[in-house]
Amino acid sequence: MANALRSLLGTGYRASQRLLHNSLGMYQSEAQLIDDAQRHWNALSTQEQEGGNAHWRGNGVFAHDDERWLAIGRHNLRIFQRLAGADWLSQPRRIVDWGCGGGANAVHFGVDAARYYGVDITQASLAECQRQMATEGLRNYVPLLFQAAQPEHVTALIAEPCDLVLSTYVYELFPSQAYGRRVLRVMAELLATGGLAFVQIKYSDLTLNSQPYRWGYAQNMANMTTYRVEEFWELAEQCGLMPQLVVLEPQQPLVHDRRYAYFLLQKP
Ligand SMILES: C[S@@+](CC[C@H](N)C(=O)[O-])C[C@H]1O[C@@H](n2cnc3c(N)ncnc32)[C@H](O)[C@@H]1O
Repeated sequence: MANALRSLLGTGYRASQRLLHNSLGMYQSEAQLIDDAQRHWNALSTQEQEGGNAHWRGNGVFAHDDERWLAIGRHNLRIFQRLAGADWLSQPRRIVDWGCGGGANAVHFGVDAARYYGVDITQASLAECQRQMATEGLRNYVPLLFQAAQPEHVTALIAEPCDLVLSTYVYELFPSQAYGRRVLRVMAELLATGGLAFVQIKYSDLTLNSQPYRWGYAQNMANMTTYRVEEFWELAEQCGLMPQLVVLEPQQPLVHDRRYAYFLLQKP
């Protein structure tokens, strides 16, 4: 009873805090948000934070649930195959995994890849992804570290046009919508003509709770950046990636979260 009351009061407090920030426009600067994001994820490398937040196998919510860790990547793969075709990955593709984390996608998407570029802002996640790929006997993995402030730097790190850029459970962690636009532009630049981007976002609806935050990165990280579905569709177009199909997941039981949208985009 006491716990339920505390949780109710907590929810009420967070909602009023949010309302206050939104109505008074109490937002943090882009530079501050990017800085806070980098600092937050750096904690993975200094072991202040469990890898569970970054979807590491055997950590956090996956500590006693290996099936769940495997299921996340398989689920993403199934959606990709529904959108792009069941055998699209059977050829040796050059793949970029933006925010690869602990390799939950890499071990599924990377099986037949010619090269699998894991791109992340923390060395610890890149190393963990490498470990998982090695466990699967995959030697096509190329880890690429960049600083959150400079996503454009990734274009200088990859010397060949790629066939697929994918990103799941990362867009909502971006510091802002404007930052997400920068990353879409980079994705377009990384792709060969006709190449695909498979991008998952958290979408906003009309509720206050689903709007992007633009303040308090560490406590609001999991819902930091959201877009309306049609807004992201148009944004992708503006960034040179033509939307092909979208799948919505109002509820996501594997991560106990809501409002995910997967977009298949193509560089014309
Ligand atoms: C929740 S994990 C997701 C991992 C993986 N994509 C998956 O679906 O399991 C988030 C990862 O994104 C990384 N990340 C956070 N901000 C990023 C950014 N701006 N660019 C690239 N990666 C970022 C974190 O370091 C972390 O490894």
